[in-house]
Amino acid sequence: MSWVIHVPATTANLGAGFDSIGVALNLYLTLEVAPSDEWEFIALTEEVKALPTDKQNLIYKIGRKVAKKFGYQSLPPSTVRLTSHIPLARGLGSSATAIIAGIELADVLLELNLSKSEKLEIATAIEGHPDNVAPSLLGGCVIGHYDQQLDWIQIPINDLIFLAIIPPYELKTTQARAVLPKSFSYQESVQASAVANVSTAAICQGDWDLLGKMMKKDHFHQSYRKKLIPHYDEVTQLVEKDVYGTFLSGAGPTMIALTTKAVVDRQLDNWKKTYPNFQWLALEVDNQGVV
Ligand code: HSE
Repeated sequence: MSWVIHVPATTANLGAGFDSIGVALNLYLTLEVAPSDEWEFIALTEEVKALPTDKQNLIYKIGRKVAKKFGYQSLPPSTVRLTSHIPLARGLGSSATAIIAGIELADVLLELNLSKSEKLEIATAIEGHPDNVAPSLLGGCVIGHYDQQLDWIQIPINDLIFLAIIPPYELKTTQARAVLPKSFSYQESVQASAVANVSTAAICQGDWDLLGKMMKKDHFHQSYRKKLIPHYDEVTQLVEKDVYGTFLSGAGPTMIALTTKAVVDRQLDNWKKTYPNFQWLALEVDNQGVV
């Protein structure tokens, strides 16, 4: 018996949807799992070469956590061949994909037959917020609120390009969260939540111009984090007249421009000349989630 698991990358926040809105993208971590005498992770692509090849691998650790939750001491030894095109620590949900992969691994190896909502509950409890794990599991755009219990809605998105502009350096989420304010005044909270509310409505109606406008007005994180992202203003200015809007993907440092295929076909080669050492990926929404 062997299994193949495909886990999509994600982009979180979409501007003001801090810790609560995320979208699955057609960029994947793939696991080929087969029984073996001992645990081994084999990296088939550069993106996963630096990860532990033994039980220290995060995917294994999450799998074992799930096993224990259901009364098993360990996971049956397996060889897992890993293929990933998701760059690490760039704000494209690579840790969330490892969490989802670990849950799926335990599910298939122990025949747990977990439902999507059970998996979602486990994943969100591990991550602490749903904005990456939920779309990675369910696909599409997921808007969720978590306070030990998760309430969420999923919205499929079609015909929109998420142009990921990925710099050649990493930024740890802990570092990007450390620059955020510890508290907000009542008035600031009202403003911040109003921007988030309009953003959500814009997503539900597919009003990408309005979403783009709201992305710029986010109060929650981008204005604090941009000091860690040297290219933030320049990239925004480079693309803004042609796209619906730009935002910091998750905790960064990747920036994403919301746009169309026609714009990408027309402009991408010009834009790339400005940042030739960045990776520019024109991604579509994965509306299916992990399979
Ligand atoms: N919403 C999270 C953040 C995503 O912006 O910090 C990364 O976990």
